[in-house]
Amino acid sequence: MNASTSHYLEQYDAAADVDKFPMVRRWIDTEPLPLFKELREKRPILVTPQCTLLTRFDDVREVLSMPKVFTVAPYVPKMGDYMMAHDDDALHTREKSLMQCMLNRDDLPEVRAMVANIAKEILDAANGHIDVVNEYCRMVPATLVRKYFGLTGAKRRDLIEWSYWNQYDTFHNQPFDLLPPEKSKYVIDRHNETSKQLGKFILELIARRFLEVKAEEITLSTLVRLDDDIVTRMLRTDYPKQLDFDIKRLGINAGGLLIGAIETTSQAVAQVLQYLLERPEWLAKAKTAAQQDTPAEFDGIVWEALRFVPITPYLFRTTASDYTAAKGTDHETVLRAGTYVLPVTLSATFDERAFESPDEFIPQRNWYNYFHFGFGSHECLGRYVGMVMIPEMVRQVLIRTEIQARSSIDYKAGPFPEQYDLFWSTL
Ligand code: HEM
Repeated sequence: MNASTSHYLEQYDAAADVDKFPMVRRWIDTEPLPLFKELREKRPILVTPQCTLLTRFDDVREVLSMPKVFTVAPYVPKMGDYMMAHDDDALHTREKSLMQCMLNRDDLPEVRAMVANIAKEILDAANGHIDVVNEYCRMVPATLVRKYFGLTGAKRRDLIEWSYWNQYDTFHNQPFDLLPPEKSKYVIDRHNETSKQLGKFILELIARRFLEVKAEEITLSTLVRLDDDIVTRMLRTDYPKQLDFDIKRLGINAGGLLIGAIETTSQAVAQVLQYLLERPEWLAKAKTAAQQDTPAEFDGIVWEALRFVPITPYLFRTTASDYTAAKGTDHETVLRAGTYVLPVTLSATFDERAFESPDEFIPQRNWYNYFHFGFGSHECLGRYVGMVMIPEMVRQVLIRTEIQARSSIDYKAGPFPEQYDLFWSTL
């Protein structure tokens, strides 16, 4: 089925209740854009037996703006007491703002240069052929996690695994993902196992780095002068006890930096690369923009590509109390307490109410209308790092001579890119 012949709702309405959501799920996975187009036009809020989809830009923003009404309860069993699983409370505000402060935006030019160096070194050593997912898309952020965030002393392959299973379980093992029970259990088991390893690593890391920072303080930096990184900054800071930011909270937040950084970046970079490599017209424009001294034009192409191939088609929340969405419109709908809602961010970025000619590729659109890093109170903590890391990683690949892929990304039936072989000329 394609956009011109689409009649998803006809099929949906005719299906038995038990088949309705599985049908929608299959369409989301295989033909999301025509499905969402029809929904935006004919039934912008689709209440299925499993969850409710909101497909228009305004309705998506409405849901994501009310964290106490549309909560991140689905995260709670997956991420313990991390601030991301808290909704608009004291802990979330406190810890998010502390971490935003540590991730000083003045660092960004240096972070971009660091990413460029790490990326270049990997590609130079690859000698004209690389599985870009495992050796690059995951490896560059894992290296940054060590060098800039300061999670030193672990193998990068381990950092990658810990991020992977946490992200898999949290974002792709929810009831509306419809994983077979044995697969769902396998993902939970792997997540629990790797969480233990990550917990042990963080404990050792903080103990070791704490002693180093104390040694630096005692010698007043005359004998010991530590490199600057985020964990060092966190440990050098004195927090009044009223901030409740003890060494345990500090460790949890250091772990969060790792979990957020790797698989997200990897997926975005791999998918943007494929999107551009498959479109010669935009590939040529991206290559030209990649040579410029300032990054704005190139980065705009990357963000527009990510609109077509985002890391997720939707975010998800649990409704805490009955709420009438899209009030006063002809699609006003009561969302019931205790039900799941999916603000479909992919659909929102194709809504002509906010995106002119949404089916066209138009770089340099209004950045604020994208949902690449979420929206509202849970908007990504690492977004500014991601905003330099993702385009710089894409740029470093595209400036290679005669860069090409001979087959498409292999997802190995899972949610993340797992292999994507790229070739270039080294002459
Ligand atoms: C660079 C390192 C990164 C770190 C440390 C990080 C960390 C985080 C954290 C802690 C949150 C939750 C914030 C909160 O609840 O207030 C978050 C949310 C989010 N992040 Fe990131 N992230 C990173 C990179 C990325 C990348 C590269 C992407 C996408 C390309 C991304 C997409 C998102 C999205 C969509 C959300 C919102 C989730 C929601 O609303 O439920 N992140 N991130």
